Amino acid sequence: MTEQKLYDLLQDMTLEEKVNQLLQLPARMYEGEGAVTGNLAEEKYSQEEIWQAGSILGLHGASALRKIQDKYMEGQPHHIPLLFMLDVIHGLRTVFPMPLAQGASFNPEMTERCAAAAAKESAVSGVHVTFAPMADLVRDARWGRVMESTGEDPYLNGLMAAAMVRGFQGSDVGEKDRVAACVKHFAGYGAPDGGREYNNVELSEHALREFYLPAYEAGIKAGSELVMTSFNTLDGIPSSGNRRLMRDILRGEMGFEGVLISDFGAVEEMIAHGFCEDGSEAAKKAILAGVDIDMVSDSYCGHLAELVRSGEVEEKLVDEAVLRVLRLKNKLGLFENPYKDGDAAREREVILCEENRKLAREAARETFVLLKNEAGTDGVPLLPLKRDKMLAFIGPYVDCKNLHSAWAICGQAEDAVSVREAVTEWRCDEGIMFATGSRMLDSKERLDRSGITGTRKPKEEGMSAVEAGKQADLMLEQAKEMAARADAVVLCIGEHHLQTGEAASRADITVPEVQMELFREICKINHNVAVVLFNGRPLDLREISEKARAVLEVWLPGTEGGHAVVDVLTGAYNPAGKLPMSFPYCVGQAPVCYNHYATGRPCQGKDDPVFFRSRYIDIPNEPLYSFGYGLSYTSFSISPVWLGSETMKQDGGSQNAAVTVKNTGNTGGTETLQLYIRDVSASVVRPVKELKGFKKMFLEAGEERTVIFEITEEMLRFYTITGTFASEKGRFQVWIGNSSDTENMAEFVLI
Ligand code: GLC
Repeated sequence: MTEQKLYDLLQDMTLEEKVNQLLQLPARMYEGEGAVTGNLAEEKYSQEEIWQAGSILGLHGASALRKIQDKYMEGQPHHIPLLFMLDVIHGLRTVFPMPLAQGASFNPEMTERCAAAAAKESAVSGVHVTFAPMADLVRDARWGRVMESTGEDPYLNGLMAAAMVRGFQGSDVGEKDRVAACVKHFAGYGAPDGGREYNNVELSEHALREFYLPAYEAGIKAGSELVMTSFNTLDGIPSSGNRRLMRDILRGEMGFEGVLISDFGAVEEMIAHGFCEDGSEAAKKAILAGVDIDMVSDSYCGHLAELVRSGEVEEKLVDEAVLRVLRLKNKLGLFENPYKDGDAAREREVILCEENRKLAREAARETFVLLKNEAGTDGVPLLPLKRDKMLAFIGPYVDCKNLHSAWAICGQAEDAVSVREAVTEWRCDEGIMFATGSRMLDSKERLDRSGITGTRKPKEEGMSAVEAGKQADLMLEQAKEMAARADAVVLCIGEHHLQTGEAASRADITVPEVQMELFREICKINHNVAVVLFNGRPLDLREISEKARAVLEVWLPGTEGGHAVVDVLTGAYNPAGKLPMSFPYCVGQAPVCYNHYATGRPCQGKDDPVFFRSRYIDIPNEPLYSFGYGLSYTSFSISPVWLGSETMKQDGGSQNAAVTVKNTGNTGGTETLQLYIRDVSASVVRPVKELKGFKKMFLEAGEERTVIFEITEEMLRFYTITGTFASEKGRFQVWIGNSSDTENMAEFVLI
């Protein structure tokens, strides 16, 4: 449809029809079960509103959506097609590694491929829009949704957000097997006070612009068709009513012209925030801020028409919002084909196809981070596992098939490959033993997001405390007996998959105690323990790191998780992941990040004799594992940094920084060289390091390569004291290494 025809259509719509285009309702109101991703209050929508809403969230399935579309368009005065939106965060049915894990791959190209595969499964299932990428920068491991971010670095997050947008949308969102992307949650949602979900966010303008806005902007510049508001307040204003954030920054400065959708109920929740007296004021503040679609609240549908008629809100604001929604439907080609790519026959071919499974397996193993790998009692590094050894695979994650995050809402556990299943494909002999060893969680606790309200179920029914105790003792004894017979133990433990995700903040970031008890008992019996860690957030790994010989971080690896774990454990794939988020020494250190400021009294390491320093007196300042850290089954040497010049012109200047990296081990492996820069003195303080580039490369044993990074003036720009984005002359430090801990540094002066 031409732009003129869209205008003509808009002119012909009644005010009620326009307002209903700005309403999004959940799937369960349309004969479909669908995912529940928020608090659903009592029914409060008329049948007219339900059957004239502009979009639906939470449904997929080509046939079901086709039926709803047909019924809906029939009842629509202008037969305007529905938009179907869904949270396809890291896969529809083929579940790829969770986003924080994908950040660990330092491979945006792989992330783009995963997003494209997810888009294809979504499109053939009738979905038009996905609520991804989540581009929120995160630093606090207590927050449940760190699993949905790609980590603590603005540069890496920006590359990942842009890659996901490209993967979902392609070059034209109307193309076949593409869906529209939605950058979220604008803005600053990843910095809630205390790491507590939905909590207030206090960010200076400087921090907001230096650390938190860049990744959203990268996703928007990559062409994201939608942006979603965040639940949090910023400067005391809920995002969905924040005109400066939405009209000045998002639309004005970033030039975003697409659809701005609220988060689930977020418009109405401005009442609970204490920012609005009632639904009418919420509707007014949201439309004034520029929110186009009101997701699952009756603020717009209940009050917007009246606000226009009373003159409190100009109708042109409604028209602008409706036009953006109509444009999106037009870009997707829905006026010509309201089903877009929804096709039941193709759905059966594409969903969980071998190609997608293969990609999921490759992607998962690329996200794994080897945190530790010391020699076992035989003097040889414990990993990779040896075929001639007696091995015991123990832990609740040996058989668990919930290997996807809480945000893989269409993922099915039965589709997944468990560790046991994958190990059995590798070795199926008497030298391999399996035992659960412990429950995932203490029997008093059960996590479940069930039913239509997404509530958490009370404690588990059925088994009495006595019976649960007997079962636990039996599981432990079986595990201990196997550990005693094994040459080495692979302990598969971690967080329950619902211990992270939305509304899953934790004040205790350790592996559940019932599993730690298992870990301790096994370590007493067998001194060759490799821990494979399944988790959605950085955890307090002090005890595990101290007692285990090897620790492999596998996150929540998705449908092909078991295969990927065995690929790495057996050395079929040499791990190369790097941490996208610091692992704190303990929860008391949170929030922690590598790109922090020096302070006026920087601590000079744990042996610093000076008392008055910026430090803790009871723990180190440094995280247990740093951003950018990750080991390999081989080793690499990196030469000192070479700089093309000791000075660089500010005006159009650039220069090269280089190192020679060598694989000094006896097996091929991949290393990710990271370029960090520090502006030593500027009009505002600058982080002690900032990631400005990285290069990932495979080197055969003994192979060496010179790696060159170009440093441009643009890379040195920051949000200066005058609020401009510019570089400033002076001294700069340049590091090149394989972790943010690197001390391999050279200096130059910008003149
Ligand atoms: C949820 C989440 C958001 C999601 C939306 C729709 O509350 O905050 O990320 O896309 O609702 O499910």
